[in-house]
Amino acid sequence: MAYRILRKFAVLKDNTRFYSSGLKKCTLIPGDGIGPEISAAVQKIFETAKVPIEWESVDVNPVRGPDGKFGIPQAAIDSVNRNKVGLKGPLMTPVGKGHRSLNLALRKEFNLYANVRPCRSLEGYKTLYDDVDVITIRENTEGEYSGIEHEIVDGVVQSIKLITEEASTRVAEFAFKYAIENGRKKVTAVHKANIMRMSDGLFLRCCREAAEKFPQVKFEEKYLDTVCLNMVQDPGKYDVLVMPNLYGDILSDMCAGLVGGLGLTPSGNIGLNGALFESVHGTAPDIAGQDKANPTALLLSAVMMLRYMGLNDKALQIETACFDTIKEAKYLTGDLGGKAKCSEFTNEICKRIEASNK
Ligand code: NAI
Repeated sequence: MAYRILRKFAVLKDNTRFYSSGLKKCTLIPGDGIGPEISAAVQKIFETAKVPIEWESVDVNPVRGPDGKFGIPQAAIDSVNRNKVGLKGPLMTPVGKGHRSLNLALRKEFNLYANVRPCRSLEGYKTLYDDVDVITIRENTEGEYSGIEHEIVDGVVQSIKLITEEASTRVAEFAFKYAIENGRKKVTAVHKANIMRMSDGLFLRCCREAAEKFPQVKFEEKYLDTVCLNMVQDPGKYDVLVMPNLYGDILSDMCAGLVGGLGLTPSGNIGLNGALFESVHGTAPDIAGQDKANPTALLLSAVMMLRYMGLNDKALQIETACFDTIKEAKYLTGDLGGKAKCSEFTNEICKRIEASNK
């Protein structure tokens, strides 16, 4: 019944759907392993905060298509295409058999060209550094991950790193726009154009050209190895980092390590046909179904999603409740050195939201 009332919708500036009831519709891919538990935690917290969205839960378990190959079910693709925004839990990737990585398939399907990962030190959770606040923006569609590999002769293989002007400009301009929209001061292009003169050279040229279009943001260029060295010596040096695919894959995990690991790190995949927000950790099969998982990474990914949709007040309310719960350190999950269950941590966040609702 509710669905019938909601059917009339308008398309917002960010292309997300906005229903006449005031609710926006978002696709939810709960995922495997701990995915359903942490997704349920996020849903509960959103309900407590009275976030004006309605979840459309979809199953992405691979199905065999007419060509005999396994792929994402059409209903899930249609849902993201309709809603233009989604939240995704971790998905299991079978090693060396069956379907290819669903994460890669989703990236391809929705042309998710920029992977954004904010890494920020959390008060109350002690790590080696207190002042990390960097955003890594990784080109997500090409580079070394283009999947173009072949054997030339026995014992000799070649893997092609593909860099295009179109994809490099797209991600470079995204980095500058992100910096402006999020009050950031500096964009650093991370590269190895001293060695890979043509491919990284092209990426760097696109970054320089983007910098000229956004003169209000400071721009600098740094070699990947220099950034790695600086990052572990003085992470406060950097603000927004933009880089090709492989460098971004590695550097973003390293930055996550500086603030306490993958269990705390959110991410957003911004695309031409939609945006998918996801925790960067895996399905944690060792603790699945035991109410032990930390839902923070998925919750902070959902907070990023709210900001993408322009629901900034709700984003801040939820983020504050989450950070305050961690800071108080009374209800921490096992990965953060505590004894609390996922449900206890979630309830504490909800209590804080209820208090701030009054
Ligand atoms: P994992 O991230 O699932 O687990 C590594 C360790 O971290 C485990 O001890 C786990 O208990 C812990 N951990 C992870 N997330 C946690 C959380 N939210 N709260 C508390 N503890 C947490 O990595 P693993 O074991 O290498 O991969 C397991 C499966 O996940 C594989 O099938 C892999 O392909 C998949 N995977 C999926 C990803 C995605 O969908 N984005 C990303 C990484 C892995």
